[in-house]
Amino acid sequence: MKKRVFKLVSVFLLVVSLAAVAACSKSDGKAGNVSNEVTGAAKSQTDAEPTVTPAADTSSEETGSGDEGNSSESTEEVKQEPKEVKVGDLPLVEGGIKGVFEKYGMITGTCIHPGLMSQTKYTEHILENYNSVTMENDMKPDYILNKNKSIEAGDLVVEFSQNTLNMLEWAKNNGLGVRGHTIIWHSQTPQWIFHQDFDTSKPKVDRETMLKRMESYIKQVFEKLDELGYMDIIYAYDVVNEAIMENGTLRDSDWRRIIGDDYIWYAFYYADKYAPESCKLFYNDYNEQFKTQHVVKLAQSLVTEDGRYLIDGIGCQGHLYTKDSIDDYMNTLEAFSALGLDVQITELDVSLGTWTNILLPTKDNLKEQGRWYYELINRILESNEAGKTRVSGITFWGISDSNSWRSDRSPLLFDRMFKPKYAYFGVVQQRENAGFEE
Ligand code: GLA
Repeated sequence: MKKRVFKLVSVFLLVVSLAAVAACSKSDGKAGNVSNEVTGAAKSQTDAEPTVTPAADTSSEETGSGDEGNSSESTEEVKQEPKEVKVGDLPLVEGGIKGVFEKYGMITGTCIHPGLMSQTKYTEHILENYNSVTMENDMKPDYILNKNKSIEAGDLVVEFSQNTLNMLEWAKNNGLGVRGHTIIWHSQTPQWIFHQDFDTSKPKVDRETMLKRMESYIKQVFEKLDELGYMDIIYAYDVVNEAIMENGTLRDSDWRRIIGDDYIWYAFYYADKYAPESCKLFYNDYNEQFKTQHVVKLAQSLVTEDGRYLIDGIGCQGHLYTKDSIDDYMNTLEAFSALGLDVQITELDVSLGTWTNILLPTKDNLKEQGRWYYELINRILESNEAGKTRVSGITFWGISDSNSWRSDRSPLLFDRMFKPKYAYFGVVQQRENAGFEE
């Protein structure tokens, strides 16, 4: 495959063409899925379960949908003071969230799951606001590797479920791009793939066998999606997810134990061999601001003998907190961009507080979150324009706090009543509504 070169222009063209397809194809807001799936998945970011600490002001919870403001009425005294407008009642930006990023040639995504797709209010919201989707679970190894067929074939067999196909079809019919997520991961991956005869009571296979299985698995992912007619909408794929620990060591997964430290190189080598040029190949990780140099080193090692990159981009999950340093995060985005690779924020949500000290959704904390989102997005747009970063897309990890995997930390742009938060206005760069003091 020819060398992949990052071009902002090509991303822009993709956005424009996705928008064009969306405009041409009629959205009926329906998806074929009915299964009511739980969002999110077990996650291993740190061991300790965080505690929730109430902040000083707990009376004015949530955005405008709750009891914010004073609702008492007096017929005798008509006060002249204008009634405070609740943030949740402010009008949404025309053209949706995606309209804001489109101006900068950036893609805007969210994650989806079958439960969401069965409700028109959600599918319509997605089509209004996003031009890309990632499946929260349905393209993960657990969901696409078929045990019985693998045993029968004596080789790993990839089979996409009807739920997955329905969501791909919906994306295609509505002109959305898709981020493929994910192929090689330590989590949500069946144990049987590592054992002789796909039988967990038997010993694990050797390096050569596992490499053969890996090649076949990766080949089938791309070939089957191509045969099914979806590879033209899958513009990026997380080939490897979460392989690096914060101390710089490689995570001790079965992939690594059996194949060795070069398993990541092989994953990209095979992906580069079988993926079409139009699909950018990503390494994706979390807490990227605490392992920046380790990720940089890994990316630099993912080259062919003649120095050609096998990787196209680095995905920063972006599961962040309102007390995190935006400076640190920007430094990370700059360091990744300096490699000449594409950079995408792939699972953005900004929880209230810190990992160990989660704050309640008081008005003050939600305002702080609005300001935080505003600053982050503002700095990314500015630094992209200045050529310091190459962030080609931002995917939010869900559409509202009620269906977030971190629902207890109110990390998203819409609240549980599906009303916009300060965070929303921060993202769409309406500074005056993003929680800054007048
Ligand atoms: C990680 C994974 C995602 C998802 C989240 C939790 O960030 O990359 O696929 O499992 O955890 O929703």
